[in-house]
Amino acid sequence: MVDQFNPALTGLTCFACETGHEAGVVHTVCASCEMPLRVDIELGISTPSDVIDPARPSMWRYGPVLPVTPEAAVTLVEGWTPVIDLGDGVWVKDEARNPTGSFKARGMAMAVSAAAALGVTRMVAPSAGNAAGALSAYGAAAEIPVLVSMPEDTPEAFVEECRHYGAEVRLVPGTIADAGAWLAKNRSPGDFDLSTLKEPYRIEGKKTMAYELWEQFGGHLPDVIIYPTGGGTGLVGMWKAFDEMESMGWIGTTRPRMVSVQPAGCAPVVRGFESGAERTEPWANATTSAYGLRVPSPIGGFICLRALRETNGTAVAVAEDRIVPAAAELAALTGLDICPEGGAAWAGLADLRGQGWVSDSDRVVVFNTGTGLKYR
Ligand SMILES: Cc1ncc(COP(=O)(O)O)c(C=O)c1O
Repeated sequence: MVDQFNPALTGLTCFACETGHEAGVVHTVCASCEMPLRVDIELGISTPSDVIDPARPSMWRYGPVLPVTPEAAVTLVEGWTPVIDLGDGVWVKDEARNPTGSFKARGMAMAVSAAAALGVTRMVAPSAGNAAGALSAYGAAAEIPVLVSMPEDTPEAFVEECRHYGAEVRLVPGTIADAGAWLAKNRSPGDFDLSTLKEPYRIEGKKTMAYELWEQFGGHLPDVIIYPTGGGTGLVGMWKAFDEMESMGWIGTTRPRMVSVQPAGCAPVVRGFESGAERTEPWANATTSAYGLRVPSPIGGFICLRALRETNGTAVAVAEDRIVPAAAELAALTGLDICPEGGAAWAGLADLRGQGWVSDSDRVVVFNTGTGLKYR
């Protein structure tokens, strides 16, 4: 295995068919069934002080549970974002503070670090906007060329941001699914595809949000996590991290109840959850102003459904006309820079409170996944 990888990285296993894959070589999806791969790290019983390096104010403070060593990281100092206490048992985890203004920085920092270690020569990905900006920035930091494809109605600021970092941008009619299809046809042999959950290491960056919550809640976890869900990387990453914490002896079997919030105009995870399905079905005519949630056929939909069910969580669809007002409400209430996806999460919490699914004694974390500034 190349030196940049954590020696505790033992391999990768398919989330769907459990086929094992060798560590230390380039992987995208499972070689047998083309479903997402999970990164396996041999953790043993490790105490928090074995794992956490408090001197690092970034997600790299959790080096022993990450696939790439902190010394080999391509980093812009991402993660270790604050949780803001709103009172009444509600906190906002503010991911707008990350480099490039969203939680996508965590996943891309890890994926680009792994890609650089493996000698990848060009990185490509379809994106709703934030992932493209993050990939472009980390590509610049790693000095690896980047090509991103985005829906043609993506707000200009996302497009300009990618170009600012020197990436090549292609705009495609339709949704992220169409941007992905364009890339699949037009990429060159040797290009490395970092599409959501078609690349295994982005989850490992996102999972650090769960480790941070554990630290920020004084060695405990909140009761409920409200997460605006598109492709589901953050949801799946945190769910994986909880299992890791249990296997290391940090927590017991109780989990935060995980909630996916989606816009009513694109809610494949909510529909799958409500119908009791094991897999999500493609959503026709997806539309929403929360661009990061316009993911009509998430490849990891079945993993999101597992995470919601195994944590006694739920899934909520919010009407489109509530999303931007909810973002404005939360911004005015807190002074935080709230994106539409964060607004959707906030509206979802109001619904769950109204239904009594969230009670007054629950400690709830709402994710503001990015800055609202690029949507205007
Ligand atoms: C701001 C924002 N929130 C949420 C999401 C959805 O993220 P995930 O793919 O982890 O579900 C995205 C994805 O583009 C996003 O940009």
